[in-house]
Amino acid sequence: MDTIEAIKERRSINFFEPGVDLPDEKIRELLNLANLSPSSFDLQPWRVIVVKDPERKKTLRRCAMNQQKVEEASIVLIMIADPDGVEKNMDRVLGSWQELGYMKPEMRGAYADMMKSLYGAKDSLTRKIFATKNTGLFAMNLMLAAKGLGLESHPMDGFDEACIKKEFNIPADKIIPMIIAVGHLKKGINLLPRAFRREIDEFVTYNSY
Ligand SMILES: Cc1cc2nc3c(=O)[nH]c(=O)nc-3n(C[C@H](O)[C@H](O)[C@H](O)COP(=O)(O)O)c2cc1C
Repeated sequence: MDTIEAIKERRSINFFEPGVDLPDEKIRELLNLANLSPSSFDLQPWRVIVVKDPERKKTLRRCAMNQQKVEEASIVLIMIADPDGVEKNMDRVLGSWQELGYMKPEMRGAYADMMKSLYGAKDSLTRKIFATKNTGLFAMNLMLAAKGLGLESHPMDGFDEACIKKEFNIPADKIIPMIIAVGHLKKGINLLPRAFRREIDEFVTYNSY
C-alpha cells in the first residue's frame, strides 16, 4: 500500500476481531516503522508499553472508560512521552552525528547546549510539550504503518491517566498522550463513511495568521 492510500484508508476502528494474536515479529515490525518518525533534534522522547495479555487489557479497559475496543484489539499500545528524553538520548544522538559526519566534533558542546536550552527545564511546560509532540508524531507514523501492514488502529485519549500510571507502573513525571488499539476489523462490520472534515480554507492562510 502506498502512502497516499494508507492515509486515505486509515480509519479509527471501533470493533476489532477479538482473540486474534498479533505475532511478536509483526509487533516489532510495526514499532520499527513507527520508530523512523522524525523528532526534535532526533531525541526520540517516547516509550511504549505493548499490552497484549488479556488480563492486562481488561485492566486497561477499566482505566479507559470501559471502551470495548481496548479488550477486543489484538494489542493496545500505551504511548508514553518522556520529558527526560533530552538527557537520556542526547549523547547517543550527538555521537551518531559526529560519527556519520553530520557535525564536526568541536560543535558537539554547542549542539548539546542548544538541545538543553530549547526544550527547557526538566519539569517545564516547554519540556512536556517537546515530549508530547514528538510522541504524537511517533503515534501517527505507527497508525499509518499499521495500515501498510494490513492492520487497523484506533487512538484514544478517553482514559484516566492516573489509573493507567498506577496499574502499569509508569512514573509520575511521564505523560500519556494516547493509547492505540491495533488489530483486525471485526468480521461483518461495515464502516460508516468518514465523518465531517473541515474544509482546508477554514484553517489555512498564506503568509500570515
Ligand atoms: C488523540 C486522539 C484521541 C482519541 N480518543 C478517542 C477515544 O478515547 N475514543 C474514541 O472512540 N475515539 C477516540 N479518538 C478517535 C477520533 O474520534 C477519530 O480519530 C475521529 O473521529 C476521526 O475519525 P477517523 O480517525 O476514522 O478519521 C481519538 C483520536 C485521537 C487522535
